[in-house]
Amino acid sequence: MISFFEGCGIFAFDSLRRFMARVLIIYGTTGGNTELTVEEVVDLLKEKKIDAKMMKVEKFAFDSLWEEMGVAGVVILASPTYGHGQLQEHMIPFFLKLSEMKLEGKPYAVIGLGEPKYDSHYHIESSTILEKAMNACKAKKIHYALKISRSPVLQMENLIPKWTEKLAEAIKQLA
Ligand SMILES: Cc1cc2nc3c(=O)[nH]c(=O)nc-3n(C[C@H](O)[C@H](O)[C@H](O)COP(=O)(O)O)c2cc1C
Repeated sequence: MISFFEGCGIFAFDSLRRFMARVLIIYGTTGGNTELTVEEVVDLLKEKKIDAKMMKVEKFAFDSLWEEMGVAGVVILASPTYGHGQLQEHMIPFFLKLSEMKLEGKPYAVIGLGEPKYDSHYHIESSTILEKAMNACKAKKIHYALKISRSPVLQMENLIPKWTEKLAEAIKQLA
């Protein structure tokens, strides 16, 4: 038997969840580091009762990605850096089509990975490329970029949870 006040609590929690933005993470990965990072972010968001979904970019048709981005409350784009300051190969065709999407006002954040040993001048350049593209679409940045230098395993206890904590706060502000 649920008391009136407990019932109100359940209602308040349900309404909060209903109005809380759904997070969609679109990502590319070659060696798996970005996937590992994104999986951790999704798990941490879910622990905070924030609905989050990840989509590996090359596994879906553009139409499905556009549709999912359209309904998502928050879009996160994640890519490592390859080839002297470029996006990961599967993120490039997606990136080239981004300007066709209606993203004005869409809350977003990005995740970039890299290693200084390859080309320090373009260290984690993927995050800058993604942010510039989303800004050009007039999407609304709600959180600073998560930049992972070297293996994400080194950041599982520190940078990734701290960044996700702040992201969750920013998402709750949107509710
Ligand atoms: C051929 C090659 C080129 C790379 N170029 C860059 C680069 O220009 N800048 C950078 O910061 N990292 C660079 N990296 C490092 C990767 O971005 C990094 O290892 C990343 O964690 C890989 O992510 P993934 O496992 O999700 O593919 C390069 C790695 C390789 C193998």
